[in-house]
Amino acid sequence: MAGGSGTMQQYRMALVTGATSGIGTAFAEALPPETGLLLTGRDRAALDALAATLAAEGRTVETHVADLAVETDRVELLAWAEALGVDLLINNAGLGVFGPVIGNALDREMEMVAVNVTAVVHLTRALLPGMTARAHADGGRAGLIIVSSVVAFTPMPMLATYAATKTFELSFGEALADEMKDAPVDVLVLCPGATRTKFFDRAGMPKAPGYSEMPEPVARKALRALGRKRVLVSQPPARTALLLATARRRVMVAGAGFVMRRIAGREGE
Ligand SMILES: NC(=O)c1ccc[n+]([C@@H]2O[C@H](COP(=O)([O-])OP(=O)(O)OC[C@H]3O[C@@H](n4cnc5c(N)ncnc54)[C@H](OP(=O)(O)O)[C@@H]3O)[C@@H](O)[C@H]2O)c1
Repeated sequence: MAGGSGTMQQYRMALVTGATSGIGTAFAEALPPETGLLLTGRDRAALDALAATLAAEGRTVETHVADLAVETDRVELLAWAEALGVDLLINNAGLGVFGPVIGNALDREMEMVAVNVTAVVHLTRALLPGMTARAHADGGRAGLIIVSSVVAFTPMPMLATYAATKTFELSFGEALADEMKDAPVDVLVLCPGATRTKFFDRAGMPKAPGYSEMPEPVARKALRALGRKRVLVSQPPARTALLLATARRRVMVAGAGFVMRRIAGREGE
């Protein structure tokens, strides 16, 4: 990990998924002007408007429209990201669908899995080797943020599939962080609590939870935590409630990593 120097790691080029709204827009806005941006989402007008506000002399700000549920769109996006030499990947795009599984439309359930799970694995697996090689070559570090949720910690009736996709992201990110612990790559799973974005409306929830954070502090806290933590529960009440669970998971992941490396005959790694 980058360690506690107190300063945020500087990245050359960040890919932010779901940059058209909410926490993704906040991530794009929170990155310093020294970091170039590849912003993606499906809303062309929102991407263009955001890119215009973030453009600066000497800064690369690219936009690419992609539906992350569609494999060919992901492949095209990956070609752009690789060409730009992305060294910070923020897997933020996601959606929820509120209601009982058997009441929800099948295509929406599948879209959730495609965007929240398949696209995260696809983008991460495809970009990490290049990100790692470039970090090795220039003596720097790469960064990976996966936006999960506090709902990752418990099954959630009425958001069953959504919560399960967020549990996947948490588990995937924690295990990946352990696998990459000696590589020049920092991995952070961000678990926001309720955050004031379009998420609840889009998920078809009749009302949003009472206490919610604004997306800007959530994104800023995540960027500061990258390289210092592996899991960040952003919302103070949820963080306190989940302190024991996150600490216990950290021990479990380390133990599981030790056992699995022995099975693989790679004890020293
Ligand atoms: N808000 C909360 O309370 C909360 C809490 C915990 C975790 N989260 C997580 O935070 C992340 C961001 O959500 P948000 O709260 O900022 O919600 P949001 O305002 O609804 O933003 C969601 C973003 O995801 C993108 N997206 C959705 N489906 C997509 C698709 N098929 N292809 C490409 N992009 C797609 C949207 O872009 P387009 O519309 O342009 O396609 C949009 O930019 C999600 O992963 C969510 O699960 C949110």
